[in-house]
Amino acid sequence: MTHVPSETTADTAPVEPPSRRDLLYLATGSVVAVGAAITIWPFIDQMNPDAATIAAAGPVDIDVSQIQEGQRVVTLWAARPVFVVRRSQEALKQLQDPKLLSQLRDPDSDNWQQPEYAKNWHRSIKPEFLVLVGVCTHLGCVPLFDPKPDPTNPAPDWPGGFFCPCHGSKYDLAGRVFQNVPAPYNLPVPPNFFPDEKTLRVGQNPPGQNYDFNSILQV
Ligand code: FES
Repeated sequence: MTHVPSETTADTAPVEPPSRRDLLYLATGSVVAVGAAITIWPFIDQMNPDAATIAAAGPVDIDVSQIQEGQRVVTLWAARPVFVVRRSQEALKQLQDPKLLSQLRDPDSDNWQQPEYAKNWHRSIKPEFLVLVGVCTHLGCVPLFDPKPDPTNPAPDWPGGFFCPCHGSKYDLAGRVFQNVPAPYNLPVPPNFFPDEKTLRVGQNPPGQNYDFNSILQV
């Protein structure tokens, strides 16, 4: 479980509260460590770019044919975790449920948190494959993945998706944030496209598109 380390007290001056940037850095470091230690969050080795690629925010290719239905894999792009989820038909149907939509802060993705080519009910190019930057829009923790309702999870009224344990923000399986949680915006969508049937390229737009990830409201 990813969490933000609490502040330590020192016998000198009071510790400055961490900035959002610090929290993002710490949380991202944590998810890498968790991914390396256990396999609950599959971290496919060949997905991990080298340091030069991260620094240049170069594109990362993922073989989506390896991802099972209902599974989420995590890769890195531009030094941030990127979630790729293969959604079932049942999950896609749930995304259009009026009851769910009535609980969301921005159900139609009106806020600029995704490219035009992902401004749709499934927030992706192909409905089956969700691609998100896995950074909570509140203070930058890495949300947990819990794709189904689970009476033992920390938010029992939540139909499944992503849950941020830092302050309880909830997102659905399209990364849309719920109302009445601290996070203000939907999870961001990175530039991405499918150069062929089984390859997802994160960090590059489809031909003819010029979406700039740095132009979004919050990451
Ligand atoms: S950082 Fe996610 S709820 Fe605060």
